[in-house]
Amino acid sequence: MADSKTKSAVVDTTEHQIAVHWKEEENYKPTAEFIAQANLTDPAINERFAEKNFPQCFEEYADMLTWYKRWDTVLDTNDPPFWKWFVGGKINASYNCVDRHLAKYKNKAALISVPEPEGEDPVTITYQELYIRVNEFAALLRDFAGLKAGDRVTIHMPMLAELPITMLACARLGVIHSVVFGGFSGEACGLRAADSGSNVLIYMDGYYRSGKMIDHKASAEIAVAAAEKEGQKIDKILVWRRHPDKYCSATPMVKGRDFFVDEILKDYRGKLVDPVPMDAEAPLFLMYTSGTTGKPKGCQHRTGGYLAYVTGTSKYIQDIHPTDTYWCMADIGWITGHSYIVYGPLALAATSVTYEGVPTYPDAGRVWRIAERLGVNIFHTSPTAIRMLRKAGAEEPRKYHYNFKHMTTVGEPIEPEVWRWYYNEVGKQKAVIVDTWWQTENGGFLCSTKPAIDLMKPGSAGPGVPGIYPVIYDEQAKEMSAGTGKAGNICIKNPWPGIFQTIWGDRERFVKQYYSKYCKDPKSKKWQDWPYFAADGAVLAADGYFRILGRVDDVINVAGHRLGTKELESACLTVPEVAEAAVVPVVDEIKGRVPEIYIVLRPGYAPSKEITDRVIATLETMIGKIARPKQVHIVPDMPKTRSGKIMRRVLAAISNTLDTGDISTLANPDVVEQIRQVVQGKEKVATKEGPEDLKQFGKEE
Ligand code: WTA
Repeated sequence: MADSKTKSAVVDTTEHQIAVHWKEEENYKPTAEFIAQANLTDPAINERFAEKNFPQCFEEYADMLTWYKRWDTVLDTNDPPFWKWFVGGKINASYNCVDRHLAKYKNKAALISVPEPEGEDPVTITYQELYIRVNEFAALLRDFAGLKAGDRVTIHMPMLAELPITMLACARLGVIHSVVFGGFSGEACGLRAADSGSNVLIYMDGYYRSGKMIDHKASAEIAVAAAEKEGQKIDKILVWRRHPDKYCSATPMVKGRDFFVDEILKDYRGKLVDPVPMDAEAPLFLMYTSGTTGKPKGCQHRTGGYLAYVTGTSKYIQDIHPTDTYWCMADIGWITGHSYIVYGPLALAATSVTYEGVPTYPDAGRVWRIAERLGVNIFHTSPTAIRMLRKAGAEEPRKYHYNFKHMTTVGEPIEPEVWRWYYNEVGKQKAVIVDTWWQTENGGFLCSTKPAIDLMKPGSAGPGVPGIYPVIYDEQAKEMSAGTGKAGNICIKNPWPGIFQTIWGDRERFVKQYYSKYCKDPKSKKWQDWPYFAADGAVLAADGYFRILGRVDDVINVAGHRLGTKELESACLTVPEVAEAAVVPVVDEIKGRVPEIYIVLRPGYAPSKEITDRVIATLETMIGKIARPKQVHIVPDMPKTRSGKIMRRVLAAISNTLDTGDISTLANPDVVEQIRQVVQGKEKVATKEGPEDLKQFGKEE
C-alpha cells in the first residue's frame, strides 16, 4: 500500500496541469460570403462520415487522388494496431501533386517562394516549371546519388522552393524523405540521419534570418560526425546554393563527398523520370518528433492513406480551391509544413506560398505586406506567431489591403483573447478561423470546426473532423461525458488514413506509447478495441467541442514545437560538472511554454555563470536554438520521492510561482524551500491563483 502511495506521487508535471483556466466562450458564425464559395457546405457530411459508414467513408478522400490501380481493401485490421489503408492500391505522390495538374493548370503558380530580403522579389514556380525541376532533380537523385525506392535520405534545408522540389523528387522515386527542421543543429540532423539509415544528406549552403546570412552548411560537418559516431557513414552531401553563382558558407566542400546541386543538374537538363507506382502502404516519409524517452522517434507515414487524408482535409477544412493563394507560415521541417504546405495544397493544385525568414523582419508589417502583394486569401499559422505579431504591431494589419477568407491556428492552445485579435484584426471580422488540433503522428487534422458549417468558439478546437471519433477517458479508461468541465486524456476511437504506420524501426515502442494505455484486448483484431492515446489533456464541453489543454507526458510544447524533457536532460548531462538535470515547462507570454532547467552539480564544483552558460550552449548545439531555456537554476538537490524519482511537478510549480502542494511525501521536503529561494529570492512570492487542473493534481497525492 505504502508503495502504491509513493507511486501515485511520482507523476511528473504535465503541461495541462499548468494550463490556463478558461471559461466558456461566445460563438462566431462564418459569413454568408464565405459559405457561398466553400467546398464543404452540406451538413450531410456528418452522416456520410458517421461511424456506421466507417471505414468506407474515407474512399471519398482517396477518390480525390489519381491512382494507377484502385485499392482492393479500404482498411485491413489483421495486424492491430498496424492498420493498413487502401491495400492493393498503387499511387505516386509526386504525380498527384504535379503531373496531373499540367493539363489544366500548367501556367498557374504552384509555389511562390518569398526571400527574406525585401529587395529580392518572390520567386514564382508554375506547375509546368515545378514538373521540370522535380523531374531533373529526381534524375539526379536516381542516377547521380544512386537512390531508389525504399532508400532513406535526410534533408536539412531552409524554407525555399528547393525544399518542396527535393521532397517531390524523392516521392517521384519512392525514396523516403526525412526532413529535419532547418533550425535544428547539425548534431540533431546527424542522429536522425543515423536512425533512418540515410547515407545521403541534402543541404543548402545558407539562408537569411533577421537580415543575416546563416552559414547552414557548417552544420553538415557536425551532422556527418554525429552520424558516423552512431555507425552511419554519409557518402554524399548534395548542396543547393542560396545564390547559384556563389557559395555562401565558410565551410570547405569536401572533394568526392560534397557536390553543388546547380552544377550537377546541368547534366540532367530536361531529363524526365517516370513516377514510380508505389504501394499505397509504401512509406512516403519519416518525420522525427520528441517523445517520452530521450531518443526522437521517426514517425513513418504511408503514401496512399496519408495523401488521401491531407488532400481531403485540405479541401474540406482548409477550404482550398485551385484558385486560392494559400500561405501557411509553418516550417516545412515540421509535420504542418509537410501536410499543409506541400502535399495537401499541391494535390489540390493550389498556389502555396513559403517565406524564408522571420515574420517580423524588417518590421511588424512584413507578413501583411506579403499577404497584400501576393493576394493571399488563406492564412495558416500558430498561436506563437499570432502572439508575436500582435505584440509587434497590434494595429499593423489594418494598414494593408489583403483579404483573407480563411485562417488557421495550429500547434498549441490559443488563448481566447489572442483568438479574438486574430479574428478582429487579422481576419478583419470576415475570415473564418479553424483551430486545428493534431500531431506529427496523425498526418492531418483530428479536431476542428468545419468552416462553413460549424460555429467557431475561441480557444476550442471543436468536434472531431469527418471520420474522426474522439473520446475523453479518465485514468481508469472510463469515458468522460460532455459538459462536466473535468479534464481527461483525449483519445481517438478509430483508425484513419493519415495515422502513421509505426515508429521507424521500433514497432514495440509504437504499440506501447500509443495503444497500450487504453487497449481493451491485446488479442483483438477489432479496431474498436484499440483507441489511439494522444497524450494530450482535454475537456469536452456540452456542445461537443474539445478544448485541448496540453501534453500529459514528458513533452514540452515550445512555440508549437515538441521538445522531450528527457532529450533536454540528457543533453545537460553531457556537461561534465552536471550530476542531475530536470526540465520543466514555464509559461511564456509569446511562446506558450519554454523549458526551464534545474541542475545539481557534482561534488567539488561550485555554482558559476560559466557552468550555466555551458549548459545553454550545449542545448543549442545538441538540439538547436529552439531548446534555449528561459533560465538554468543550479540547486543544492532535487526534490525526490522516497524511491528516488525527481519530482518535476514541484519544480514546475516553483518556476511558475504556483503552490507546490503537499510535499510531505518527499524524501527531502526541506530542499523545496531552498530551491524556491534560489529561483524566487528570499521573499516568499505570493502564489498565483492556481489553474483548476493543478489544484486537482495536488489533491491526488
Ligand atoms: C499541441 C503539430 C492545442 C498538442 C501539428 C499536440 C495543439 C502537439 C493544437 C503536437 C491545437 C497541436 N490546440 N494544442 N490546435 N495543435 N497542439 O506533433 O499538445 O508538432 O499533442 O504537431 O501540439 O505537436 P506536433
